[in-house]
This record gives sequence, C-alpha cells and structure tokens, in this order.
Amino acid sequence: MNETDFGHAATGPHKIAVLGLGHVGLPTAVGFTRLGWEVVGADEDAAKVELINSGKVPFFEPGLDDLLNWSLASGRFQATPDVTEAIRSATVVFICVGTPQREDGAADLSQIEAISRTIGRNLNGYKLVVEKSTVPAITALWIQRTIQRYSALKASEAGGNGSGKAPPTGPESLAADFDVASNPEFLQEGQAIENFFEPCRIVIGADSERARGILRDLYGGLRRPMVVTDVTTAELIKHAANAFLSTKISFINMVTDICDAVGADVTRVAEGLGLDPRISPAFLKAGIGFGGYCFPKDLRALAHLAEQQGVDCSLLRAVERINSQRVEVFLDKVRNSVWVISGKKLGVLGLAFKPNTDDIREAPSLKIVDTLLKEGAELRLHDPWAMPAAKALYPPEAGRVTYCESPYEVARGAEALLLLTEWDEYRHLDLGRLRDLMQVPALIDGRNFFAPEEARRAGFSYAGMGRRGVSPYARELAASGQSRPATPVWTGMGAGLNG
Ligand code: UGA
Repeated sequence: MNETDFGHAATGPHKIAVLGLGHVGLPTAVGFTRLGWEVVGADEDAAKVELINSGKVPFFEPGLDDLLNWSLASGRFQATPDVTEAIRSATVVFICVGTPQREDGAADLSQIEAISRTIGRNLNGYKLVVEKSTVPAITALWIQRTIQRYSALKASEAGGNGSGKAPPTGPESLAADFDVASNPEFLQEGQAIENFFEPCRIVIGADSERARGILRDLYGGLRRPMVVTDVTTAELIKHAANAFLSTKISFINMVTDICDAVGADVTRVAEGLGLDPRISPAFLKAGIGFGGYCFPKDLRALAHLAEQQGVDCSLLRAVERINSQRVEVFLDKVRNSVWVISGKKLGVLGLAFKPNTDDIREAPSLKIVDTLLKEGAELRLHDPWAMPAAKALYPPEAGRVTYCESPYEVARGAEALLLLTEWDEYRHLDLGRLRDLMQVPALIDGRNFFAPEEARRAGFSYAGMGRRGVSPYARELAASGQSRPATPVWTGMGAGLNG
C-alpha cells in the first residue's frame, strides 16, 4: 500500500486511542492508521490484544487482516490491554465498546459509563472524546457529565483527601478540558473496510468548533460528504438510519406475504419499487428477516426511547413484529414441504446472520435451527465461516446435529434443503448433483437466492419467499378455469357491489 495515498503526513498532530477492538473498533483503528494517523487500540481482553498484535483478526471480516498487518508494519498502530495508558497517551479517544441490549429492550450503557469514568480519571490535557458505538440520543450528555464528575473527583482526591499531595499542576491541572462528540459508525459487517474508506457520508456531531475541526481533520483525507451538526442530532441520525433500513426490510417482507397470498413475485415487485430513485433498490431483499448485532437491538432501543418520551412508535413495533414473524412463515413452508418435521433429515445451508461474516448474533437461522431441533429433526448444517460459532451453541450430536464440510455433504440423504444465508459460495452449486444426493429433492429458499426455474429444471420442488406457487387464491382461480380477474373481486367490506 502507498502510505501517501490519503495525503497525510506519516504522523499527524492527533494521537488516536480506540477503546474496544470489536467489529467497529478494529476496522476504525486500522482505518485511521491507513489515513496516516498514529493509533493505539485498547481492549481489556488481553488474549484478543495478543492475537491482534500478532497480525490475526479475532473474527472474519474480508480485507481486515491485510489492513491490520499493514498497520502493524507501518509502526503507527499497536494494540494494548492497558486502557488507562491508551487514554493518557491520546488526544482523541474513540469509544467503540459494546452497547448490548437490556431485558426491557433499552440499550445497556454500562460499558459506556465505565469507560467514561476511566476517561474522567485519566484526563491529562485536552482530549476529544468521540462516541462511535451506537447509542440512544443524549448518551453523549451523560458521557460528558460522567467525565466531568470523575475528573473533578480525581482532582479533589489528589489535593484534598489527606494524601498530602498538592493539587495537580501542568498538564494534570487541565483535567476537565475536554469535548464529547458523536461520530456514528455506519460500517456493515462484511464490508467494513469499504465502508470506512468510502462512506456515503461522515456524520460529525459536536458542540464546539475545536471538536468539529479535529474530526474534520481526521477524516479530511477521505473527501466524502460530511454532515456536521450537534451531538444529539448526530446520535439520532444513526438510530434513525438503522430503524429506516429495518423498516424497508419489514415492509418488503410484509409485501412478500401478500405475494404468497395472491401468487405474485416479490423479487419483481422489489425491482419495480427500487427503480424509483425515491425508493432505491437497497434493503428490499425479502426473506427470513433481519438479524445481527445492530438492527434488532437498535430498533428496540429507539422504540424504548420513544416510548419513554411518550412518542407514538407503533410503526417501529410493527417493524419488529413483522420481522419476528418471518421465522414462522419460513417454518410453515418447511412444514408444507415435509409435513411432520420429527424424524426428518434436513439440510441447512448458511447460518451467519448474513453473508461475509462469521457472526451469528440474533441470526434468524438460530431460531429456525432451534425450532427444528425441538420438533425432532435431524440437521445437517453448513456455513463457510460461521460453523465454529454455531458449534458452541449446538454441539455436534450423532443423529441430531451434523456439521458438514460442503453443501454436497449437507444434501446427502436429506429430505429438504433449507437456504438460510445467501453466501456467494453457494452461487454456483451443481443443483443436479445436489438433487441426486438427496432422498427428497425439495428446496426451501429463505433468501430467494436460487432461480426458481433453474431449481425446478434440476428436479427440485422449489419454495421461495413470495415467489408465486403457494397461492391458494391463484390456485383456486386456475382450477375454475378463469384467468386473473381484470378487476378485484371484493370479498370484504362492500362485497355486495361485485358479489
Ligand atoms: C447495519 C447497518 O447496515 C450499518 O450501516 C450499521 O453501521 C450497522 O448495522 C451497525 O449499526 O453497526 P449490519 O448489521 O452489519 O449493518 O448488516 P446489514 O447489511 O445492514 O444487514 C442487517 C440484516 O438485514 C441482515 O440480517 C440481512 O440479512 C438483513 N437484510 C438486509 C435483509 O433481510 N434484506 C435486505 O434487503 C438487506
């Protein structure tokens, strides 16, 4: 890689600390290193830090290992388990710790709170503290208050707790000189590197000119559109973006069920919708629903915040409800194919919550696997990357759970094949070979990944999501020898008009 591509000197005036080296923190840390800055990545998990310092990425993210190794070799990036030292050595501190979900659906901000206290205790000169983890609006205000409070505590401990120490002077006396900004991440797992270097926009939420200037500086090399606003608005942009994309998915999934009911093809509906630039084709892929560490929890957190504030968020609750019903819709298709699940040998292709990641958190596949096992199926599973994570949840068990080396192994003796993640690796499968290996050649496609005609030509019975073929309404019409009615037949309110 050419170090000068992004137009920065080898070391800029800002020294960055990235706290938390997960799916967001690590790409962010090495991304900034690549942009020319000096970066220290900190994580309390010493084993993870050791792995990273030896050039290994603790999870699967395409291209990240190359960038990590490049960063280590540049001498401008290093990981450390010493979070305190990382904070003290930096002028810009990115908070990338986890924000899991509490039982009531709200975001669990305990890691954010803990790291804010640590930052407060270690202010040794001006620092810009940047919230990158996804958090509900007004979290930055709490971070600010916490840092202020704990830095004041530290000063009073140093000067007035009987320790005999004089109040801090020099850099320590600037203890409370800091800003808190929001710079939400929009990284998609599986595309994190691409998203870091070519983001559709960079959102900067800061309430001081100094903070805005530093963030502009840090990202200056990217020359991408920037939205510069106040902190709370920036926080809300992130949550609203995830909620909007989730809404698009649930919308198309609702249309999917209508397609199944009337015998239409949702992939063509999505195409017809997406060509309208006001709608766009992105996030209109129908299927078994959205999962992962972000959409489900962020949607619930936003709904929780809205409800707390007395805002009607029934739209968000409907999005969530439609999504959780997807698994049942899919399982019904399985039951329609094999009838009784108990004792059936079923092949499963794909376990990750989406392709190009080994992440199975909140993956729809888990609920499907769970139900099938509870109903007594014998499962043959495959995923190019997510099998180790799946094995930890569903250990191999003879006659119940078998992990297979290849999709063809999955098909051996199976009475139906279930596609749950649309991995590119499955794109060029030899369908004829798969069919020959199966006891019953049934394909139930949870992601509308296969072309139905091709699957049928290869001898499969094919069921997709909203792709014609299961409509009792259309079947009834066909049986009665009628073509589709030119005008709708009203059977509900006002049925008498057409009846
Ligand atoms: C999502 C957002 O896309 C990122 O912009 C954001 O930064 C990230 O959350 C986050 O908050 O950290 P990610 O969870 O990695 O990224 O994955 P997506 O590619 O958005 O997919 C989410 C889920 O939606 C997957 O289960 C996927 O299969 C599903 N999906 C996506 C559909 O069912 N249909 C679609 O058309 C698109």
